[in-house]
Amino acid sequence: MNYANVERKIQSLLRINRSIQVLQDVVDLLYDSFDQYNWFGIYLVKGNHLILGPWRGGQATEHTTIPIDKGICGSAAQTGKTERIDDVSSDARYLSCFSSTRSELVVPIKKDTKIIGEIDIDSDVPCAFTPDDEQFIERVAQLLASVIYEII
Ligand code: SME
Repeated sequence: MNYANVERKIQSLLRINRSIQVLQDVVDLLYDSFDQYNWFGIYLVKGNHLILGPWRGGQATEHTTIPIDKGICGSAAQTGKTERIDDVSSDARYLSCFSSTRSELVVPIKKDTKIIGEIDIDSDVPCAFTPDDEQFIERVAQLLASVIYEII
């Protein structure tokens, strides 16, 4: 499915539902729409930690709580900048969740300048994420920001 179609579907989901369930619906839609997205999760910022919210994937992660100074997820939450990692094995910050993961995309979710969460996607394919994926998931993060802000 193409980015524009998925984005339109997300916008209609968000028009009809503003509860935490819609975050799971969006996670499910994205996981089902792109083959290279092998694990898809939303973390929410609580104090100095990232807490795992809705997710979809073949396996559960043991990293349901990540200190903000740990991992690629922590880096993105601290800097507010997207992390697109072509080869996770070459990144010293990487916290391993699944032995099959080869590349990862982490996009902060911001309400104005405040970082309130992030989208984390793992892929079993090296270099799975393109600049187009990055820009698309950044738009998704913007769409989700106001709902997350309302429910946290
Ligand atoms: N790999 C992440 C941890 C989260 S799991 O990928 C679900 C990191 O390095 O922060």
